Amino acid sequence: MSKSPRIVSTTSAVPALSTLPQHVAVIMDGNGRWAKGRGLPRIAGHRKGVEAVRELVTACGELGIPYLTLFAFSSENWRRPETEVRLLLELFLMALDKEVKKLHTSKVRFRVIGDIERFGPKLGARIQAAEELTRDNQNLTLTIAANYGGRWDVAQACKQLAREAAAGQLDPESITPESLEPHLSMAGMPEPDLFIRTGGEQRISNFLLWQLAYTELYFTPVLWPEFDRSQFDQALASFASRQRRFGQTGDQVEGQPLEQPARAGKGSHA
Ligand code: IPE
Ligand code: IPE
Ligand code: MG
Repeated sequence: MSKSPRIVSTTSAVPALSTLPQHVAVIMDGNGRWAKGRGLPRIAGHRKGVEAVRELVTACGELGIPYLTLFAFSSENWRRPETEVRLLLELFLMALDKEVKKLHTSKVRFRVIGDIERFGPKLGARIQAAEELTRDNQNLTLTIAANYGGRWDVAQACKQLAREAAAGQLDPESITPESLEPHLSMAGMPEPDLFIRTGGEQRISNFLLWQLAYTELYFTPVLWPEFDRSQFDQALASFASRQRRFGQTGDQVEGQPLEQPARAGKGSHA
C-alpha cells in the first residue's frame, strides 16, 4: 500500500504537487443535448451518461487517482420538469442497484454528498447501505453529489458552528476558514486538483464552491455521454502542463520538486 494523500487546505498551506491529480471533480453536463441531437428523449442521454461514468471510474482506478467526485444532481435541478426529475431519480436507484456490487469488487469506496433526505426513505436507505458496504475500500473514493449545492454545504457547516457557539463550546471570535472545513461534506478529503466540466458551459453551477478555491479548471465542449478515456487523457495532459502557484510567484514554484504520482499503475492502493 502506498501512502495516502495529505489533506491540506490550499489557503492555509501550499500542498505537495504532482503531475497526476489526486482528486478529480466533474460536472457531467450535456446529456440532454446529446439525446436531443439524436432525436431521443432526454433520459436516453442520462442513461448513456451512466456508461461514461463507468468508464471514468475504471480509468481513475487504473491510473491510481484516489478521489473522484461527480455532480449528478444539483439542488437547482428540482426546477426541471417533474417527469425528468422522476426519471433521473429512478435511474439513480437502478444504477445503484446495478453498480454497487461491482464497485465493491473493484475496492471502490462509494459516498454520496448532498441533502439526500429529499430523495425519500427508499433511495436514502439504498445510499446508506452502499456507503456501509464499501466504507473500508481503499482503491478509489467515488463521491456522488446528489441534491448537492455548494451554498447549501457552506450553510449547513455554518449551522453546525453556530450550534457549538450557542452551546458555549465555541468562541465566535476564534472562527477561521479552517474551523468550517471539518463540517463540510468533503471533510477529510483533499480539495480537487482538477475540475472538469463537459458540455461547453464555463460555469460552476453551485458545485463545490469552497473546495474549488485553487482547483485547475478544465472545460470541454464534448457532451458527457461522449466523454471517453481519450477525452480524459486530454484533460489530464492539460492539468500536467499547468503551473499551480497558490499565490506564489512562478520563480518560487519552479524551484519546488513535483511529487511522483504516488499511486500510478493498475492495482496500487491508497
Ligand atoms: C447533465 O446533463 C445531467 C444533469 C444535470 C442531471 P443535462 O441534463 O444538464 O444536459 P443538457 O445540459 O441539458 O444538455
Ligand atoms: C450542473 O448542470 C449540474 C449537474 C451536472 C448535475 P446543469 O445543467 O444543471 O447546469 P446549468 O443549469 O446549465 O448551469
Ligand atoms: Mg445541463
